[in-house]
Amino acid sequence: MTLWANRMSSPPAEDMMAFTVSLPFDKRLAPSDIEASIAHVHGLGRGGILDKDEVDQLVEALHRTGDELAAGVFEFAPGDEDIHTAIERRVRELAGEVGAKLHTGRSRNDQVATALRLFTREHLALVAGLLIELQKTIHRRAGEAGQSYLPGYTHLQRAQPVLLAHQLLAHGWALSRDVDRIFSTLDRLNVSPLGAGALGGSSLPLVPDDVAAELAMGARFENSLDAVSDRDFVAEALFDVALLGVHLSRMGEEIVLYSTEEFGFVRLDDAWSTGSSMLPQKKNPDVAELARGKAGRFIGNLVGLLTTLKGLPLAYNRDLQEDKEPLFDSLDQVALALVAVEGLLASSVFDTDRMQQAADAPGLVAVDLAEWLVAQGVPFREAHGIVGGIVRESVERHVPMTELLEAHPAFGEEALSLLEPGSALRRRRTAGGAGPEAVAVQLGRFATRIAEDAERLAAWRP
Ligand code: ARG
Repeated sequence: MTLWANRMSSPPAEDMMAFTVSLPFDKRLAPSDIEASIAHVHGLGRGGILDKDEVDQLVEALHRTGDELAAGVFEFAPGDEDIHTAIERRVRELAGEVGAKLHTGRSRNDQVATALRLFTREHLALVAGLLIELQKTIHRRAGEAGQSYLPGYTHLQRAQPVLLAHQLLAHGWALSRDVDRIFSTLDRLNVSPLGAGALGGSSLPLVPDDVAAELAMGARFENSLDAVSDRDFVAEALFDVALLGVHLSRMGEEIVLYSTEEFGFVRLDDAWSTGSSMLPQKKNPDVAELARGKAGRFIGNLVGLLTTLKGLPLAYNRDLQEDKEPLFDSLDQVALALVAVEGLLASSVFDTDRMQQAADAPGLVAVDLAEWLVAQGVPFREAHGIVGGIVRESVERHVPMTELLEAHPAFGEEALSLLEPGSALRRRRTAGGAGPEAVAVQLGRFATRIAEDAERLAAWRP
């Protein structure tokens, strides 16, 4: 039987139930619902709506229900529309008469919103933790990379040599912004809707502030209509995952490229690669490809939810039930992706000889040669023209750049030393740049940032 059976003259149509139930996917909200329900019952006690005995009986029944669910021995009934009704039904079975008081001053609307916030809080914190683990691996690999360098690209054309550490840390900083974004989502999310009721509050002396505090939420809702219809936190979580997914996708794309024979910059570990069912020689970068591919799904989940929300009048509408599957999917998949990308990166071998050979082509120091001229007093635009002319001549006449530079009156011995492997890169000293001194500073700052974020995260973990 459903909770609302008395209102209807006939039982619900089977196909109606099949279409509307959310139990198959919202089961996993059980621990969050139990936690919120216990806080709600305590609140009813504090407000004098339940006596101490009633509170104890209800809390005890909620704990037992939670244990049954956790142990997988909970028996669902045909009328259980969702996990919230299933839990209430079981509490009524266990606690007898007093069980009928559990839902006092509460609607499923504020109940669902609260449980989903608690769930999202916990899972976003997990994602932030996995992000930090990946960042630690990036930091370690960057430290191990030492002075190795590779071509930095713009337009996927070789542009300037950069330290491998610099390239790795570039991805690391993007992930730092993801961690930061999760923290700010958590701040806004941490508001309790309990006490909003179906949409307009209650005539009973509820204590929403106390309930919020018990749930370790920073505040109660300000407006009951907003409280039950607000799914901004889901949209924000989905956006956080989508952008993080885009970052993983870009890392994935780079690994795919670098692991080709054409680039040959990285060799993936066998345990983190897949083979081909037909082509015996193949070793494929599937982890990197899926890291890239999942981003499409994360973006889809975000766009799907925003589309669901855009036309909804206040307050609760059943459309909102569609918030859960995309949220669960994105949180699950991004957790898998973070762990896999970490494993892939931790076990990959960089071919630094190959990287350096690719970066040692004289064309890659063209701007350094121009800057050398600038240091001699030549205006930059003129210097750019001189070096550009040499490059063009080298290409057109098939003469090595070195030869042309040696013969050119503007360049002396010192300028030519820029062509020695790695020498131009070592001269780059600007803060945040790709040269060794700046990267050493950056490496330290990145470590500090990771440690600070780990500390911030600890405050969000139960
Ligand atoms: N399973 C529903 C959801 O996830 C619960 C809320 C149902 N509320 C209602 N008034 N029908 O949104």
